[in-house]
Amino acid sequence: MTYRIAPSILSADFARLGEELKCVIDAGCDWIHFDVMDNHYVPNLTFGPMICSALKPHARTAAGLAVPIDVHLMVQPVDALALAFADAGADLISFHPDAVSHVHRSIQAIRARGCQAGLAFNPAEPLDVLDWVIDDLDLILVMSVNPGFGGQGFIDSALRKIEDARRRISDSGKDIRLEVDGGIKVDNIRRVADAGADTFVAGSAIFGQADYGRVVAAMRAELSAGGRTALIRT
Ligand code: DX5
Ligand code: ZN
Repeated sequence: MTYRIAPSILSADFARLGEELKCVIDAGCDWIHFDVMDNHYVPNLTFGPMICSALKPHARTAAGLAVPIDVHLMVQPVDALALAFADAGADLISFHPDAVSHVHRSIQAIRARGCQAGLAFNPAEPLDVLDWVIDDLDLILVMSVNPGFGGQGFIDSALRKIEDARRRISDSGKDIRLEVDGGIKVDNIRRVADAGADTFVAGSAIFGQADYGRVVAAMRAELSAGGRTALIRT
């Protein structure tokens, strides 16, 4: 299992976003998680495609390797904004199926623009739509908090949903990443991995600390405990 850690810049210092990206990348993070909120689908407002394109040149390791930008759209409507983010340098784009009328069409539109496509599921949202579209997905994102804010507590029922999503991915035989978003900390990341997740969004757990590298190393140590291989960029 290759694990990925994706810091959510929702909890970063917005006055220093470029530097914050450098710090989390230097700390060994794998993806940059970019939370887009519209004050309509969720009761908060963050950033749009212009900020994404401004940050794109900063999403690189010191050695010049590109670090994927993982856009999580908490918006309604989705389609036009998804394409704007594809043009702004997003590598992966996830949206909430309950925010669109035609889930399959939105997935295809994202992929046609050269991005990987993901579906994000709120805590009370069933996974049933996966019966019909899992073969077209690159990513499943299980929300373990209600979307809209960083710093909330992990909702335990997400663990059952992660197990269910992992079963569906195994049955599909496809290479689909399983990302979990909300309330991930050093002390629960292992449980979330054991339920079947391979990609972990962490906002306040990383940006709230003085030393990002220490938190990321502690998360990786938890992930490597128990015999699975915790790993870095691929
Ligand atoms: C919530 C966002 C999350 C959030 C995670 O709507 O999608 O990405 O920022 O933040 P923490 O890790 O603080 O729960
Ligand atoms: Zn998110």
